Amino acid sequence: MEKTPFKVHAFVCTNDRHGSSKSCADGDSQRIKDELKRALKQAHLWGTLARVSTSGCLGNCAHGPNVYIYPQMQMFTGCTVDDVPEILAAIERNLE
Ligand code: FES
Repeated sequence: MEKTPFKVHAFVCTNDRHGSSKSCADGDSQRIKDELKRALKQAHLWGTLARVSTSGCLGNCAHGPNVYIYPQMQMFTGCTVDDVPEILAAIERNLE
């Protein structure tokens, strides 16, 4: 087993149930992921320090969109694109 190469890895749930029940894609979570990736690159954190990936359901659908930060085990709920600076700040704190 190997360790993850990233100090912080953010997972953005983009699960889409197409309206059959609430899912993170209802809150435009793909846009949140794209914006967080852009922000990490702009902050020169993308690469070996931090990464963002899409994920399937994180089990907190009623409170989505959800972003989970690993290995710090922090969950951001009810996210919008406007929350990206706060998530970025949390990632930066975890890199200190
Ligand atoms: S659909 Fe995103 S946590 Fe379940």
